[in-house]
Amino acid sequence: MSASPPLLQVEALSIEYAGARVVEGVGFELEAGATLGIVGESGSGKSQTALALLGLLPARARLRGSVRFEGRELLGLAERDWNRLRGSRIALVFQDPMTSLNPYLSIGTQMAEVLCLHRGLPRAAALAESARMLDAVRITDAVARLAQYPHELSGGMRQRVLIATALLCRPALLVADEPTTALDVTVQAEILVLLEQLQRDLGLALLLISHDLDVVAEVCERILVMYAGRVMESGPAAALLAEPRHPYTAGLLASRPRLDAPPGQPLQPIPGQPPTPGQPTNGCVFQPRCGRAVAVCAEQRPDLLPLAPGRCCACHRPLTGWGM
Ligand SMILES: Nc1ncnc2c1ncn2[C@@H]1O[C@H](COP(=O)(O)OP(=O)(O)OP(=O)(O)O)[C@@H](O)[C@H]1O
Ligand SMILES: [Mg+2]
Repeated sequence: MSASPPLLQVEALSIEYAGARVVEGVGFELEAGATLGIVGESGSGKSQTALALLGLLPARARLRGSVRFEGRELLGLAERDWNRLRGSRIALVFQDPMTSLNPYLSIGTQMAEVLCLHRGLPRAAALAESARMLDAVRITDAVARLAQYPHELSGGMRQRVLIATALLCRPALLVADEPTTALDVTVQAEILVLLEQLQRDLGLALLLISHDLDVVAEVCERILVMYAGRVMESGPAAALLAEPRHPYTAGLLASRPRLDAPPGQPLQPIPGQPPTPGQPTNGCVFQPRCGRAVAVCAEQRPDLLPLAPGRCCACHRPLTGWGM
């Protein structure tokens, strides 16, 4: 008997603009109800990957590879099929809750519209369901909030509204791209806890994108590390943090600010800059910035290979333990 396919299966996904490849050969799977975090520095292709899953890339983006969701190929889908899928089976939460909400419409109108459109609910029922969802994201006085406008809410509350809106149609997959980056630290922590609870309670699959390894590790079972549009390393969150195999992951870990670091210990940013998309590279894309690079790293692109159960790494000289 063959096992049922995963909820989401991305294979050899590449995205190109006028010859400049911004995502190359990215692959991962997500089971129903599972969590995966994508991390990497700015420009590593995280958002491009997310947008490809929602059919939201500009028309001039050239895509290759495969994105299968609920057994169906999504690349090449017609716009009206995307419209049916987006917001109903796959939902997206962006970084900036102010620009994602319409300032001229009340919260209730914006939320109810989603249910009227996707599920054909009459307005009164849509408003009642919207209030229930605001309640689920721990917004007090849900019914009164429906009459309010985005500017009347705090940043954290706006992000809760966006999350509630994304979940209205009970999607199977929530893609959250830097959902807490625009928020201050305490609100950030509350939103992460909320995402975690909702994911568990609703059996949602969650793809959480962040440049912050700690944010992702807090919520996700597995992590995918991207650099210059490629997957450098993937594995279970705890193992990846405790024992990074790719020098890039180790670099990300060493450069993060930590509350438990001994006082006075300087942060160690990864030296150098990521390559510009389209710049030709023969070897490993991280090689120019890598302290462990040897001759082969500049000559030959390392494949993403399994290293241990559940762990893959694209490196000619993977670390075997901290600093080894
Ligand atoms: N419409 C576009 N046309 C050409 N290049 C683009 C376009 N959109 C994004 N890119 C490029 O694709 C690359 C990956 O961008 P992406 O937004 O996916 O990065 P990211 O990992 O999400 O970064 P950040 O952490 O800053 O959000 C970048 O080099 C970016 O300049
Ligand atoms: Mg991004």
